[in-house]
Amino acid sequence: MPKKTIASVDVAGKRVLIRVDFNVPVENGVITDDRRIREAIPTIRSVIDRGGRAVLVSHMGRPEGAGYEAEFSLRGAAQKLSELLGKPVSFPSQDCTDAGAAAAVAALRNGEVTLLENLRFHKGEKKGDAGFAAKLAAYADVYCNDAFGTAHRPDASMVAVPKALSGKPRVSGFLLEKEIKFLSEALASPARPFVVVLGGAKVSDKLGCIENLLPKADTILVGGAMAYTFLAAMGKKVGTSRVEADKLAEARKIIDLDKKMKVEIMYPVDHVCSTLFDEKSGDIEVFDGEIKDGFMGLDIGPKTQTKYAILLSKAKTIVWNGPMGVFEWSPFQQGTQQVAKAIAQATAAGATSIVGGGDSAAAVDKFGLASKMSHVSTGGGASLEMLEGKKFESVGLLDEA
Ligand code: 3PG
Repeated sequence: MPKKTIASVDVAGKRVLIRVDFNVPVENGVITDDRRIREAIPTIRSVIDRGGRAVLVSHMGRPEGAGYEAEFSLRGAAQKLSELLGKPVSFPSQDCTDAGAAAAVAALRNGEVTLLENLRFHKGEKKGDAGFAAKLAAYADVYCNDAFGTAHRPDASMVAVPKALSGKPRVSGFLLEKEIKFLSEALASPARPFVVVLGGAKVSDKLGCIENLLPKADTILVGGAMAYTFLAAMGKKVGTSRVEADKLAEARKIIDLDKKMKVEIMYPVDHVCSTLFDEKSGDIEVFDGEIKDGFMGLDIGPKTQTKYAILLSKAKTIVWNGPMGVFEWSPFQQGTQQVAKAIAQATAAGATSIVGGGDSAAAVDKFGLASKMSHVSTGGGASLEMLEGKKFESVGLLDEA
């Protein structure tokens, strides 16, 4: 069911508690990817431009839950948000429920924004605790969920807070709305051919996704280290490539299922390999078919790249989750880069392309192709769970449109 969005609520003079996902990567105190903050701007703007008072809450990382830890502070996110909004964002205290935080919320004027400190400094957030949720709910006249990246988590701010606010407006932000629209439309009624590209290190992370997509997709292109578990299950030599021995039986089942269904699953036919899992120090060779003993596959080879690019050029809907190789290291980046280029070209020719968050989003950023995709998700785990066909309690609780 479509959910009400913040656009439908008269927010003037109201305190709008916006659950955002500002769990952004930070290196040496610097935010290295601010997509999640940028993508939250339309919702925040909609509230403040209409005279609402925006009270933002988020988690950051996985702290102990026993109080403030500087490493996981949202202070940098508050600064970044202030820069992006072009206006001050107050950041009142080291605890989202202390007297300082409550006073800052009470002092907010129409059109102002405050960001409270990391919710996960309280154990109650991860535990979904009702007592903790009640303290957050006391800040709100309106609840707005715009944290797609956290939509799969039953944390207090995602579930117990909207439950505590029953009777008040509980709506979706524009980012959450956009993410769910792209992912659910692609799965419910994709323009065809519908091509799914799956990669990444572990086949175990993608099994649920493959099972859900088998009856929906026309073609599934497999790459990344997860491909070697499938190739090993077919009895092919994969050298020292990463294979999940406990997933071979399930991989075999999928290979057999593929024969009975309309969907075609493609696996790499050649491989860029090295003797070491290292950017520079191993001997690098490309193998056609089987991989020589002592070598591990770290990227799809040139023939596979061409084959996948041709299939992608005919696609009308593309969902991509997981890189084709170790794209962070230049000798093994080609596979992921060529797939990203092929998806960008297909998008320019009219296809809808959806890139799952996490590593694939980082890859399209690295290759300067993010803006050429129809949608780059801000959710890693959340977008994967949507591809698995799961429903989120956090979204179910929001008011229906
Ligand atoms: C994410 O980055 O996937 C979300 O912010 C959720 O974070 P979590 O996996 O620590 O719950």
